[in-house]
Amino acid sequence: MPEDKYLLKAIQQLVQLLGVLVFYLVASSVFLMGQSYGLFEHEQEVMAQQPSSKVKPAASPPAKEVWHAPDTSSIPVTPEGALIRYGRELIAHTAVYLGPKGTVQQISNGMNCQNCHLQAGTVPFGNNYGAVATTYPKFRHRSGTLEGFEKRINDCLERSLNGQALEVESREMKAMVAYMQWVGKDVVKGSTPEGFGLLDLKPLDRAADPVKGKLVYDKHCTLCHGSKGEGIMAENGLEWTYPPLYGPNSYNIGAGLYRLSRFAGFVKANMPYGTTYENPVLTDEEAWDVAAFVNAMARPAKDLSMDWPDISKKPFDHPFGPYADHFSEEQHKFGPFDPIKATQQ
Ligand code: HEC
Ligand code: HEC
Repeated sequence: MPEDKYLLKAIQQLVQLLGVLVFYLVASSVFLMGQSYGLFEHEQEVMAQQPSSKVKPAASPPAKEVWHAPDTSSIPVTPEGALIRYGRELIAHTAVYLGPKGTVQQISNGMNCQNCHLQAGTVPFGNNYGAVATTYPKFRHRSGTLEGFEKRINDCLERSLNGQALEVESREMKAMVAYMQWVGKDVVKGSTPEGFGLLDLKPLDRAADPVKGKLVYDKHCTLCHGSKGEGIMAENGLEWTYPPLYGPNSYNIGAGLYRLSRFAGFVKANMPYGTTYENPVLTDEEAWDVAAFVNAMARPAKDLSMDWPDISKKPFDHPFGPYADHFSEEQHKFGPFDPIKATQQ
């Protein structure tokens, strides 16, 4: 076929640029197209189809370009690819496998990782995993240790999902690690891409106010998250259609979202659901105040006595003493934060 000839030529040129990526493209083409050609023909097709901008090795992305996750269709059709896909599935539907009625183990509160790490951790400022592959293992002051992927994942299981740690050797742990490595594979080692993790909101010059926050909550959040923060369970009884924000089924007091700055940054860029960082609905004040309201409500406890072995490294909004400074727990919880931050410079 003349078309084949053309494709072959295009490939020969591209092969020089591609290196190892060829393999992934081949595999993804097999997966996507599901046709019964030989492997080599697929390679030709796929290479000619890929716009070259997509297949360039990620050597030097422009400094300010906001991070986007790789396309899931590029996950290879190999045992490693299957592990990555299982990892993504576990993050999107954690409760189905690891929740109170989980098919693998029952070790978490029924939330999905994706409830907080939107779209399996791929959304800019949606608490994504864009910097995980390139920055872990890293030293974290909360534990005072060098943490690998597994420790960090278990942190969220024990805190954000108010549950128990997974065995490091379990297939589920290996799958989530493989997925995170894949999601961050194009980010330059050691760098943190624009838009990774959460938005850092400028603190207010006053304390965040739970009373004002309640008004924001009633207006913008009750519809989905419920008038008591209780959420709405999906019909299958396994996952939340709208996850809880406080009360017994929510994250515990050791979770990242229990820090006001994390909650406010998440909500500003992502809530009410459908909001993006480019088109926020809440003002900064509303985001801080609603964070104060939600985090003033009751939620599960957690023994934090082993956290922050060096108390001088506690973040400005860590709400539990003792502290290396003279500010109260109340101020560390609700602000104003600028005076605290000034002592930490
Ligand atoms: C209730 C919300 C919530 C849930 C559910 C949740 N996380 Fe997190 N996770 C967070 C927050 C908040 C952070 C800290 C983000 C920050 O400080 O910028 C975080 C951080 C992380 C990080 C480190 C990211 C980085 O760049 O350093 C990983 C990895 C992670 N979570 C994995 C998971 C996994 C896996 C699950 C499910 C088993 C999960 N999380 C469930 C809220 C959550
Ligand atoms: C239109 C429905 C809707 C509205 C309104 C809404 N949310 Fe959400 N919210 C969601 C959904 C759905 C998720 C889970 C996202 C997912 O799993 O993809 C979520 C997740 C969250 C999470 C992380 C998961 C958790 O339960 O801790 C927080 C925090 C949150 N919302 C806060 C808020 C706040 C605060 C408001 C009001 C300012 C708000 N949301 C308004 C639908 C909504």
